[in-house]
Amino acid sequence: MKEYYDTRAPEYDDWYLGVGAFTERNRPGWDEEVRELIRTLGALPAARTLDVACGTGFLTQHLRGDITALDQSERMLAIAGERVQSATLVQGDALDLEFRANSFERVFTGHFYSHLQAPVRERFLGQARRIAPELVVVDAASRPDHECEEWQTRVLNDGSRFEVYKRYFDPADLARELGGGTVLHAGSWFVAVRSRREDLGVSATGRSPSTTALDGAGR
Ligand SMILES: C[S@@+](CC[C@H](N)C(=O)[O-])C[C@H]1O[C@@H](n2cnc3c(N)ncnc32)[C@H](O)[C@@H]1O
Repeated sequence: MKEYYDTRAPEYDDWYLGVGAFTERNRPGWDEEVRELIRTLGALPAARTLDVACGTGFLTQHLRGDITALDQSERMLAIAGERVQSATLVQGDALDLEFRANSFERVFTGHFYSHLQAPVRERFLGQARRIAPELVVVDAASRPDHECEEWQTRVLNDGSRFEVYKRYFDPADLARELGGGTVLHAGSWFVAVRSRREDLGVSATGRSPSTTALDGAGR
């Protein structure tokens, strides 16, 4: 995955912006939903946040508070650093987070969780929970043109090809998978879930106050 994202870094934002290789993609409602997602993230209370796998900082720039942005790719971090000059940048492995327990108020991660296969997923969640009492996950919404879990061949502008593992989420299922939480965004393209330590295990019994928000949010 490192080589793929390092190579993709200069063209990564084309995906958000609908330019370059994405110019011809038919993505109804995409631009509006990107703006809606950005509004949702900007409305989160300011917090001491670790943005795990920040990429180019496209979403990072909208988080409020004291932001630390971590990625394993130097080229991604270089772009993020230009864009979010107030953030502290850390080059590191998202699966080996060397921060003290509770050193942040929130762990945020965008479009990273969907690339993790089961055992690694557990490892990431364990570390995120240790580092902060709140986890916000933004990722891809389930769609008819994709299986909920698949291997994809991705071709970059220079013709290089990479096999990438990817999942697509129903927002309520993602909240349950995180152990409970509140759906912040449930769109055609993206989902966003906030899961706090106090939510953990509660939604499984159906007693969580957030269950109501989960079922109805954003639809
Ligand atoms: C799909 S991009 C997401 C970027 C950004 N968070 C966003 O939502 O646009 C995935 C990012 O994860 C980073 N990444 C992948 N595996 C990683 C790992 N083990 N540790 C740190 N970063 C990783 C990649 O370098 C890439 O920047």
